[in-house]
Parts: sequence; C-alpha cells; structure tokens
Amino acid sequence: MARRKKIYEGKAKILYEGPEPGTYVQYFKDDATAFNAEKKAVIEGKGVLNNRLSEFFMTGLNTIGVPTHFLKRLNMREQLIRQVEIIPLEVIVRNFAAGSIAKRLGLEEGAALPRPIVEFSYKEDSLGDPLVTEEYIIAFGWASQQDLDDMIALALRVNDFLAGVMYGVGIKLIDFKIEIGRVYEGDFMRLVVADEISPDSCRLWDVKTGQKLDKDVFRRDLGNLTDAYTEVAKRLGVMPSNVTHATKPTLIN
Ligand SMILES: Nc1ncnc2c1ncn2[C@@H]1O[C@H](COP(=O)(O)OP(=O)(O)O)[C@@H](O)[C@H]1O
Ligand SMILES: [Mg+2]
Repeated sequence: MARRKKIYEGKAKILYEGPEPGTYVQYFKDDATAFNAEKKAVIEGKGVLNNRLSEFFMTGLNTIGVPTHFLKRLNMREQLIRQVEIIPLEVIVRNFAAGSIAKRLGLEEGAALPRPIVEFSYKEDSLGDPLVTEEYIIAFGWASQQDLDDMIALALRVNDFLAGVMYGVGIKLIDFKIEIGRVYEGDFMRLVVADEISPDSCRLWDVKTGQKLDKDVFRRDLGNLTDAYTEVAKRLGVMPSNVTHATKPTLIN
C-alpha cells in the first residue's frame, strides 16, 4: 500500500495530502492538550467524536450558506476537506464570561456579556496564542480591514447557528473558537470556516444544571471527557443513543 504524504501533525489532528489537488484528509487524534500543551493526555474515543461532531456542525453551516472547508467524512476518524490558506488567528466569540475574559476583567464565570464579543488571538504556540487587537492584525498584515469585517460577520453567523442548535438540545453556548482560511477561485478570494468545530473548541454548559460538556472537563479535571462529548453527540442525534465510545474486549475466565 502506498504511504500517503503527511502535510502537518498538530496537537489534535493530522493533515494528509488528499486524493485530489486542493484537498486534504484531516485525521482526528485522541490526544488532548491544555494550557498551551503543558497538560497532555490520550483520551480514548475523543477523535471519533470530534470527527462526527465537526462534520455535523460544518454540514449544518454549509446548508445555511456559511462556507466551510468540509467536503465529506471518510471514516471514523477522517474527513475530506478543502485545502485553505489559514489566517494565523484564532477567532473567538463569547456570549457569556468564562476562561481568560473572566480572569482578565474579573467577571464571574457564566455572567452574560452585553452582546456577543468577537476577539482574536495570534495563533503561535510558542507565545501561548496571545490576544491581539485589530490594529496589530492590520499592521502585521495577517488580514486586511475588509477581511476583518468579513471574519467578524462570519464568526457571528457561526455563533447564531451554533447557539441555536445547542439551545435546542438544552446546551448553552458560552463561547467558541474558529479558524478561518482563504480559498482562491480565479480572480476571487473568499473566507471559509476551517479547522474544526467540536467540544474541544467550544464551552458548552447544560442549560439546567450548568454541567460542563466541553474541554474544561479535561482542563479542570471534572470527570471523563469522552462521556461529556458522547452526551453532546447523543443529544444532537449524531450518535445512536445506545452506542458509547469504544468498548474494550473483556477477558472471560
Ligand atoms: N482546510 C485546511 N487547510 C489547511 N490547513 C488547515 C485546514 N483546516 C485546519 N488546518 C490547520 O491544520 C492544523 C490542524 O491540526 P491541530 O492539531 O489543530 O494543529 P495545532 O496544534 O496547530 O492547533 C491546524 O494548524 C490548522 O490551522
Ligand atoms: Mg488546533
């Protein structure tokens, strides 16, 4: 069997050369990292769940006219995506205070924000993905003013979609992060949602109990991460409710 070309191996995913020019195969690993990769673990079943969940969100976005890199799911851990030129920014949308904004501004976790807040951090692990202003982004040429306006509009559309879908299954969308890439078509360039949308990149709280169903379960040692992600997948109907994560063979004496 021919070995395929590995394009990039990141913390949670691997990109392989795709079957056609302009495509990649995105492989979801079970690796989990937090605090800029200071905390690491292998969480059995996470990659399978994130592959399914990212497919679910990206397909939904495509259906309502929000362009994404997603083409099709190939198998349990892999999906075919369009190759894009990633803008080196993490685009974060916050509906409620949590994480760094709560810390920075002394807000209580879960406090409602006056409106959705979009912020950017520079995607550079060695610097811990620092928060950057629009001034920085334009001055350093990471994106133009037009790109920024388009990125904010795109991020807010994703927010409305995700928040609505989540609320429909009793989950509050606290915040999320996306990456955006450029696709060139002849003389035109457009921005599309890339990377992944999964509980690794969102904060999701149960509406009634406030239980966390996202990567904070791992960051803060709140329980079994795969169980939390399985709960999200079950509620969204992307996994039959009787199927949980990979079962281990058991020895019969
Ligand atoms: N459609 C795409 N085209 C090109 N690169 C992509 C695309 N989608 C995601 N990427 C990049 O692939 C990598 C995915 O692997 P990940 O494990 O998340 O890496 P990282 O550790 O850099 O966050 C990221 O660097 C992301 O920017
Ligand atoms: Mg990543």
